[in-house]
Amino acid sequence: MNSYERLLLHNKAWAAEQVAEDPEYFARLASIQRPEFLWIGCSDSRVPANSITGTQPGEVFVHRNVANLVVNTDLNLLTVLEYAVVYLEVKHIIVCGHYGCGGVKAAMSRHSFGLIDPWLRNIKDVYRVHEAEFKAIADPETRCNRLVERSVVEQVMNLAKTTVVQRAWQKHQSPHLHGWVYGLNDGVLKPLVRKGPGVELPEIYQYDDV
Ligand code: CO
Repeated sequence: MNSYERLLLHNKAWAAEQVAEDPEYFARLASIQRPEFLWIGCSDSRVPANSITGTQPGEVFVHRNVANLVVNTDLNLLTVLEYAVVYLEVKHIIVCGHYGCGGVKAAMSRHSFGLIDPWLRNIKDVYRVHEAEFKAIADPETRCNRLVERSVVEQVMNLAKTTVVQRAWQKHQSPHLHGWVYGLNDGVLKPLVRKGPGVELPEIYQYDDV
């Protein structure tokens, strides 16, 4: 059997199992989606949003990219964000990084990786801002993990800078923004920051007329 056939076989069994447990399962899911959470995570196959949070289909709206970045010109991310905030009215947005992130490691190196270089530049910029702190950490792995954390906090701030989020805050005091980091070694999620309406953003990022 080809490896991909295993997926189809599992799917068949899974679908049958859901219906056996709850005959209305798919009818209910198909009619509407009202997830409470938007998850912005790394594409890394070891950090699947639903599995590690014990959530089911229908509960989490998901966007994933290399190193879970919130880049203000990324039309893909912005589209997902606006849809989640304006139409789905998610209550929480979670940016989830993970220790040992390959994207962050690559950004810390001086090697060029091709097309991904400008993408990783966003992490290099976070490094530059906290350069003194990173240079004081001797162990490369510890340094990388600290950059993972610093980057997650930065991505949360990037969300707060968007008109989509600021408009929602003015209108209905939500969503709340969360920055978490996942440990590949122990499977544990560690909350780093939580920001809501009234977050202290430098004035220049605050829109008066959203
Ligand atoms: Co990663």
